[in-house]
Amino acid sequence: MNKIYITTAIPYVNGSPHVGHAMDYCLADVCARYHRLIGDEVKFQVGTDEHGGKIFKKAEDLGVSVEDYVAENSEKFKDFIAKLNVSYTDFIRTTDLEHEHLCQEIWKKLEPYIYKAKYEGWYCTGCERFITDKEYEENHGVCPDHQKPYEKLEEENYYFRISDFKDQIVKAISSDELLILPDFRKKEILKLIEDSPDVSISRPKEQLTWGVPVPDDDSQVMYVWIDALSNYITILGYPEKDISDWWPATVQFVGKDILRFHAIIWPAMLIGLGLPLPKTISSHGMILVDGQKMSKSIGNVVDPVEVIDKHGIDAFRYYFLRHVDTFADSDFTWEKFENAYNNELANDLGNLVQRLATLIAKNKIELKKQDKLELPEDFRKLMDGFEFSKAFDLAWEKIQALNKKIDEEKPWEFAKNGKLDELNACLNSIASELLLVSSMLSPFIPLTSEKISEIFTSSVNPPKTPLFPKQ
Ligand code: MSP
Repeated sequence: MNKIYITTAIPYVNGSPHVGHAMDYCLADVCARYHRLIGDEVKFQVGTDEHGGKIFKKAEDLGVSVEDYVAENSEKFKDFIAKLNVSYTDFIRTTDLEHEHLCQEIWKKLEPYIYKAKYEGWYCTGCERFITDKEYEENHGVCPDHQKPYEKLEEENYYFRISDFKDQIVKAISSDELLILPDFRKKEILKLIEDSPDVSISRPKEQLTWGVPVPDDDSQVMYVWIDALSNYITILGYPEKDISDWWPATVQFVGKDILRFHAIIWPAMLIGLGLPLPKTISSHGMILVDGQKMSKSIGNVVDPVEVIDKHGIDAFRYYFLRHVDTFADSDFTWEKFENAYNNELANDLGNLVQRLATLIAKNKIELKKQDKLELPEDFRKLMDGFEFSKAFDLAWEKIQALNKKIDEEKPWEFAKNGKLDELNACLNSIASELLLVSSMLSPFIPLTSEKISEIFTSSVNPPKTPLFPKQ
C-alpha cells in the first residue's frame, strides 16, 4: 500500500468561495478517491490562508475585527468543501496557534539564508506580491489582474537568499525530479527562475500587523506567502515531528496564477530546510465566464452554491471535471452547463441506467456476482499522469459505447423470440461493463457511482426517479 499525500492551495478568506476555488478541491478529490480505489493510503490537506494586507484591509473596511472576520469566512470555506463532497483528511487555518508556532521554528531554521535589507519597490496587495521593476514597466504601473496601481514601498525587510538555490531548483524541474504540469508551464517557470531576485519575506509592523511575528524581532511580521506555503508541512507537525511518512507530497494542486510561488519560493524553502521537493505540482487554468475573467466589478461571478442547489453536486463535479480542461483556461456559461446536463448526464448516463435496469427487472434476469473490477490500463495511465479530464472522457466514451451496444444487440428481441440464454448473457455482459464504468466514474461523481452499484445488485430495481431528471 502506497502512502499518498495530496495538497490544495489554501484560499484567502477575503470573501465567499466562488467556482474558481472549487477547482483545486475537485481535482485533489478525484486524485484522492482514485488512490483509495486502487488501495493506497491517502492524506489530503485543505485549509484557509488568513493573514496578509488584503484580508486585514477588507476587515477594516467592513468595520469588523479581523479575527472574527477570518473565523467566519474560514467556516464558509469549510462548508463549501463539504458541499463539494471533498474527502479531505486534514483542515488547517493559518491563524491556528500551532501553525504560527511551527512557522516561527521554520523561520529559525532558514536563518542562515535570511538577511536584512532595504526594499524599495512595488507591491500589489491584490496579488500579495512584491513586483519587480521590469514587471512594473511592462504593466505600466497597474496590476492587470486587479486593475489597481501598484503601491510604492520603502521599508526595511528580511530577504530570503533564493540565489543560493536557483541552480538546484532548475536542475530538479528540468529533470522532472520535481514534475511541473502541464509541460508548457514548466517551460514558463524555468524562464522565470532565471530572472528571480532574492525575495523579501517580511513586512514592518508599522505597515502591517496582521501576520505571524518574526522570531526575535518585534518590529516585523512574516510575508504572508512564507506563512502560507509552510502550511503544507506544519499540518504534518514539521519541524517538531518526523514527517517522512507523508513528505514529499505526491502532488500539490494549485492554480496557474500561483505556480510561481510554488515552483520557486517553496522549493527554495524546502532545500533550505533540507527537505525533499514535492514529486509533482499540477497547475490548473482559470475558469472564465463568457470568455472573461470572473470579477466582482464586472458582476459575472458564478455562485457555486446556486449551481449545486439547482442541479446537484454530481452535476457540478461533472461539468467542472470534464468540460473544464484539467490544465487550460475554460469557459463556464449556463448554456454550456445545461447542455452538458441534459445531453450527457440525463441522456447518455441517466437513460442507460434506466433502460438497462428496466430490461433486467422486467425479464427477471439474475445478475452474476462480479469478480474484482480491474480498471483499464489506459484509464489508469491518464489518472496516474493527473490528466483527469481526459480520463473522464474515456469513461464517458464507454458509456456511449454501451448505449450503442444495447441499440445494436436489441435484447428486447431476444425476449420477444424466447431466446432466454442470449438475453441473459447480453444483459449480464452490459451490466458488468456498466459496473466497471461506474468504478471509473467513482472518483469524479461518487454519489452517482454509488447509486449505480446499489441499483445493479443481484435483484435489480429500476430507479423510481431518473438519476438526472431533465431540466
Ligand atoms: N492564498 C493563496 C494560496 C496560498 S497556497 C499556499 C491564494 N488564494 S486565492 O484565494 O487567491 O486562490 C486560491 C486558489 O483558487 C488558487 O489555486 C487559485 O488559482 C484558484 N482560483 C482563484 N480563482 C480562480 C478561477 N477563476 N479559476 C480557477 N481557479 C482560480 O492564491
